[in-house]
Amino acid sequence: MDTKIINVDGSSFDDDELQEAATLLREGEVVAFPTETVYGLGCNGLDEDAIGKVFEAKGRPQDNPLILHIASNDELYDLAERVPALAEELMEKFWPGPMTLILKKQSHIPDKVTGGLDSVGIRMPSHPIANRLIALSGCPIAAPSANRSTKPSPTRADHVVEDLAGRIPMIIDGGETGVGVESTVIDMTVYPPVVLRPGAVTLEMLREVDSEFQLDTGLEPGKTPKSPGQKYRHYAPKTKVVLVEDDADILRELEGRIPMFVAIMGMSDFVQPWDKLMRFDLGDSIEQVSANMFNALRILDHYGLQVILAQTYREEGLGLAVMNRLKKAASQSTNEK
Ligand code: TXA
Ligand code: MG
Repeated sequence: MDTKIINVDGSSFDDDELQEAATLLREGEVVAFPTETVYGLGCNGLDEDAIGKVFEAKGRPQDNPLILHIASNDELYDLAERVPALAEELMEKFWPGPMTLILKKQSHIPDKVTGGLDSVGIRMPSHPIANRLIALSGCPIAAPSANRSTKPSPTRADHVVEDLAGRIPMIIDGGETGVGVESTVIDMTVYPPVVLRPGAVTLEMLREVDSEFQLDTGLEPGKTPKSPGQKYRHYAPKTKVVLVEDDADILRELEGRIPMFVAIMGMSDFVQPWDKLMRFDLGDSIEQVSANMFNALRILDHYGLQVILAQTYREEGLGLAVMNRLKKAASQSTNEK
């Protein structure tokens, strides 16, 4: 299949530029598009055949549910049942934006979207292209991240091209995504609500709204993960990733290795002194680290390195989401060369 790539400038575009994509979505096809977190692979979330194509293109396990993307708050009431007042408060505060609410689903939502669960994830993205595309398509858009399953989420259109060219009819290139990590996923079917995946709507921000917000304890042995996505291999570069906190950690990892086959990624001042290594400067703030991290992992993975040393960050604010993704990359990358 030929993949058409169209360039759209998120800060100034008109509806005409998105009509072809909206028509494809309406007709049951899949389209990759930018959101403020990562690129999504979208389809009509009420069309089972279209949903099947998303799973197929991604190579994703069928029981891992998709989230539905909407263009305005009211659309949620056509999809979710029993919307708690606290969910409405969160919608008011953080939508449009990088937050997914898990709510009890209405019966017309296909099991294919929810992986057979009786809940559904819903999010209203703030990216102007995503928002307008959803509105023009006229349907809720089911969209996982637009990567092949087990690859890091795509934050640039060329990441999507790398993973999905030839498998999908269209990619909308809207430049870099911005936030860089996927949305905060919150289980609102329980009280206190539980953060299943940390993101840019941080635990601290949520606890300002209600101090009872909990963080999922995650993958404890023998426990069924609440967010089905957590049990799958994720964010795993082929190259081994080791988390390093300080010089002593770095020196220990360098023992017995050839410096030119070792990469170090982190903030500018952290990577700067290590000029014998391949340095990947992620920027000067946790926001920049978040925006650039997946790109760094993808690029460094092309070099056949012995190891990627990744700086650690304090697990607070956006740092919690960044560390969550880095830990997955580190725990699941295995084939050290
Ligand atoms: O930022 C994002 O959320 C991006 C952009 C494209 O919007 N999308 C995204 O989708 O990251 P995906 O499918 O890669 O991740 C959605 C996560 C998965 O871990 C999935 O298991 C979880 O949300 N999830 C979806 N529905 C759920 C449900 N009903 N209950 C629990 N977890 C759910
Ligand atoms: Mg994903």
